Amino acid sequence: MASASTNLLADEILARCDVLARFSEKPDRLTRTFLAAPMKQVHEVLGAWMRDAGLTVRLDAIGNLIGHYPAKHASAPVFLIGSHLDTVPDAGKYDGILGVLLGVATIQRLAGERLPFAVDVLAFSEEEGVRYRASYLGSSAVCGCFDRELLKRVDADGISMATALRDFGLDPDRIHTAAYPRERVLGYLEAHIEQGPVLEEKHLALGVVEAIVGQSRLWLEFEGKAGHAGTQPMELRRDALAAAAEFVVAVEHSAQHTAGLRATVGAISALPGAVNVVPGLARLSLDVRHADDAVRERAIETLLAEANRIGMKRGIAVRVERAEQLGSVSTDVRLTNILASAAQSVGQTPLRMVSGAGHDAAIMARLTPMTMLFVRSPGGISHHPDESVLRDDVAAALDGMVAFLHRLAGEMT
Ligand code: GLV
Ligand code: MN
Ligand code: MN
Repeated sequence: MASASTNLLADEILARCDVLARFSEKPDRLTRTFLAAPMKQVHEVLGAWMRDAGLTVRLDAIGNLIGHYPAKHASAPVFLIGSHLDTVPDAGKYDGILGVLLGVATIQRLAGERLPFAVDVLAFSEEEGVRYRASYLGSSAVCGCFDRELLKRVDADGISMATALRDFGLDPDRIHTAAYPRERVLGYLEAHIEQGPVLEEKHLALGVVEAIVGQSRLWLEFEGKAGHAGTQPMELRRDALAAAAEFVVAVEHSAQHTAGLRATVGAISALPGAVNVVPGLARLSLDVRHADDAVRERAIETLLAEANRIGMKRGIAVRVERAEQLGSVSTDVRLTNILASAAQSVGQTPLRMVSGAGHDAAIMARLTPMTMLFVRSPGGISHHPDESVLRDDVAAALDGMVAFLHRLAGEMT
């Protein structure tokens, strides 16, 4: 059982998640993408909470809000705690945001106690890949692996990433300055809702992550020929959307018959998009994940062969863009063991688990040893407005994170 003061802080974290959920691009649901106007309001409010917690606040060149908590000694290394502030369209309130607020509350709980390392709380500007079809923009910059080619990419309104950065008051030519010098960084911890049903099934509040599955994101275009919906005989049609639909079902079938494979078509559009026109063009996304990179890669080759077969059969041209690819990443064994024993020390039995969702931690592993703490997701619901967390689980996570920092500090003294 957490103490009364931890429970109060957990209540405050949940109330803060409610506050940040009001800053949205849409009036009736939570959608907050990279550098969209509501992110400014989030920075204002979150920045004030960070300062109250004793953090010095800065905005880096990719739009990450960073709170710095000094160490006992000026030359000490820094430990990083973070997660992301952007959301998917029509999101829940906790994906990403909970991890950031747990980081701030962890510092509140330290109440000025100095550690043999500094702590930076990183609120990443972008993880979901929604606005520019490129994910992990915030953490990539922090790791020094931001791809500058992306600056030319445009969003759905034709605004390039470079312009979006300037409009937000940032300088795209300074993105390199967001990178942390590797030798200064001790490690990275990300707390996150589990986003799946496993912890709930096992009646456990917390999990520690041993690996994050690999994922690929692709975009496919099916090009047929538009025509009149009333006059064009069925046997003469080259309906791009019907071909795409056949492919969508093949994707589902393939994942249903391959153990551990997750394959999803989450976005689809058809042109010209009118009730009385046979679709001439269909564009869809494909997201494929598996803990074993070889299985994921084989599944993608099989699915692309299937797309071509469907195209040939229907007289439809198929084009493929491989947008993103990230192999599966293991967490750092030492940090994960420290995290597990910290969780045990506060009365929890953390489950060791694999994350099916992608996280900034997978990118941060390029910079520094990293680990992740999962918090039970009631109903396993995520990427949905019904996403939730339990107050007691948040309290347990907070206790676990404070204990983790103390254990880490103990190893250094
Ligand atoms: C991030 O939310 C993902 O797609 O796993
Ligand atoms: Mn997400
Ligand atoms: Mn997330």
